[in-house]
Amino acid sequence: MLHRGWTKGVTVDGLVQQLFAELSACNSSVIIGSLNQKGGAGKSTTAVHLAHRFQLKHGKSVHLVDLDPQGTSSFWLQASDLGIEHTFLAADSDVVLEQLPAVAETADVVVVDGPAGLSDATRAVLLLADMALIPVQPSGADVRSAVDAVRLVQQARRIRGGLPDARLFISRATRGTKLLQEARSVLMQLEGIPLLDTAITQRQIVADAFGQATSVLNAKTGPGLEAGNEFNRLFSEVFPNG
Ligand SMILES: Nc1ncnc2c1ncn2[C@@H]1O[C@H](COP(=O)(O)OP(=O)(O)O)[C@@H](O)[C@H]1O
Ligand SMILES: [Mg+2]
Repeated sequence: MLHRGWTKGVTVDGLVQQLFAELSACNSSVIIGSLNQKGGAGKSTTAVHLAHRFQLKHGKSVHLVDLDPQGTSSFWLQASDLGIEHTFLAADSDVVLEQLPAVAETADVVVVDGPAGLSDATRAVLLLADMALIPVQPSGADVRSAVDAVRLVQQARRIRGGLPDARLFISRATRGTKLLQEARSVLMQLEGIPLLDTAITQRQIVADAFGQATSVLNAKTGPGLEAGNEFNRLFSEVFPNG
């Protein structure tokens, strides 16, 4: 695993690029959390698609760690033929702090699917993660509770001297709505965590991906391809070398 401090003058983008340069150079693992205490935000959907993206695009070994007591993403991967390694861990801070580093030894990239509600487990992930991706639904209540997720990231950064890196993005959006516009303008103002330009649209094909035990990144045509392109745009913003 990589252990980094925060060097003055280094930009966040610079840090991300450095992170992935280090990953390629020394074959250490990177831990990326899909986190938000709010249920239904799109954490599991993001985690599965991000894991698949790394497998397809970067040719890295990927391991998804599912901390959601409902086991959504591990069930999803288990039923699929995506061939992504996955482990279900209890959403408990001791378990996370003790077992996540061991899993990280076994893969180039570890994607952690965070639990809803349980902020201690989320805190523990933030103490180990290199990057936190925070999906937020464009509703007043969800945008409001994004402040709590940002707060946890800031707490971890104070302890770790700058890490983890983090990005907010809007998930399950309906194009052209006032809610989307409002969510964007509020989230853009949250200190220290950039809002990604790409928003993930609410689409039936994405909702179906779990039941079909697949990933929209496999789609070659139609709405699946559009959805897949959107996820690819989102992930490219975070990992520009990918
Ligand atoms: N972009 C999307 N379009 C349509 N449905 C979505 C999308 N993202 C997530 N969903 C659906 O919303 C619900 C919650 O998503 P999920 O990823 O399980 O969120 P979380 O893990 O944060 O609780 C699931 O039924 C999922 O299929
Ligand atoms: Mg989930």
